[in-house]
Amino acid sequence: MEKKVYVTQPSLPELTEYLPYLQEIWQSRWLTNNGRFHEQFEQELAEYLGVKHVSLFANGTLALVTALQVLRITGEVITTPYSFVATTHALKWNGITPVFVDIEPRYCNLNAELIEAAITPKTTAILPVHVYGNPVDVYKIQEVADIYNLRVIYDAAHAFGVRINGQSVCNFGDLSVLSFHATKTFTTMEGGAIICHDEKTKRRIDFLKNFGFANETTVVTHGINAKMNEMQAALGIIQLKHIDTIHEKRKAIADLYRNQLKEVEGIHLLPPYPHLKYNYPYFPIYVDEKKYGISRDKLYEKLKEHNIYGRRYFYPLISHFPPYRGLPSANAQYLPVAENKTRQVICLPIYPDLPLQKVMEISSLIREFKTSAIGMPKSKSIADQHS
Ligand SMILES: Cc1ncc(COP(=O)(O)O)c(C=O)c1O
Repeated sequence: MEKKVYVTQPSLPELTEYLPYLQEIWQSRWLTNNGRFHEQFEQELAEYLGVKHVSLFANGTLALVTALQVLRITGEVITTPYSFVATTHALKWNGITPVFVDIEPRYCNLNAELIEAAITPKTTAILPVHVYGNPVDVYKIQEVADIYNLRVIYDAAHAFGVRINGQSVCNFGDLSVLSFHATKTFTTMEGGAIICHDEKTKRRIDFLKNFGFANETTVVTHGINAKMNEMQAALGIIQLKHIDTIHEKRKAIADLYRNQLKEVEGIHLLPPYPHLKYNYPYFPIYVDEKKYGISRDKLYEKLKEHNIYGRRYFYPLISHFPPYRGLPSANAQYLPVAENKTRQVICLPIYPDLPLQKVMEISSLIREFKTSAIGMPKSKSIADQHS
């Protein structure tokens, strides 16, 4: 039987590259708590990203939960229903009420034009997500935040290394949060970070992620244990050496999908984002059932029959899940774009080791399912037609 192709597969360096680091960790017996690799990784990561300060975390969710603590966010926070559920869970863990605002149809990011109407006297912050690594409208969001004196925390879990007009996307807002989970373009197995812009905030973040300890005998705040360990940090140092190649390989795959699928009626692709250094984390397609001939779920199942395991990111919407669906802002009538996109999306497999031939095959299947749905003869791939 043919091997299953999943939506992603982590990019790892050769084991031989990692072993000397492990040997050093074993010899030093320094496993966590600001070890040598932790310090080195924080510095090298800040340099690579082009940001002032990085605080490493055990994972992105703890980084999000802590980021809200750092700025003492309370009351209501405006956010998107079209994301991974951790975005909203971080609010819940802080006793904050999420207020969902609809997304825009172009990149499926929080619609910055709709934020103002959702602000109440209890609103303290905005928590947007750079969905699929495409930046949300950071300029408009800052404008609204400045007028209403709101803090902005970006969930940048998908946006590792992304730059707009040469500027790191993590330099916008008060804080940005990254995830280095195994599914992300840059991974330390589990891991994450908060990006901040000044030394004082970095100190507070570092207290908060280490039980609130300021020194051996002083606890200054009710911190948590969210520290990254030395094995994660060492892997991060190595991954940084490969990340540009990883993104280049992902680009080749994304470009090929785009080329192969751009003319399939009823399959909608996100447009390339202007002036962006991009990381190609996902390749979402949106299925318009009327034009394509079969539904998104049918296509999803048919691909699985051929061992292609795409994922419906993000379906269901966060606002559909039991902890949130009772919220007034979760009402579907206020979220028409998100409700539509969540019914149409499939993220296709994309990872550096995915052979380009597989991308051709997946694209051919998507074209063939359409032609069989409308009873037309099977099409050849675009590449075949040109040869
Ligand atoms: C948008 C978004 N936010 C937050 C997270 C949580 O990150 P982690 O898995 O590192 O806890 C993820 C992914 O895992 C995510 O995709």
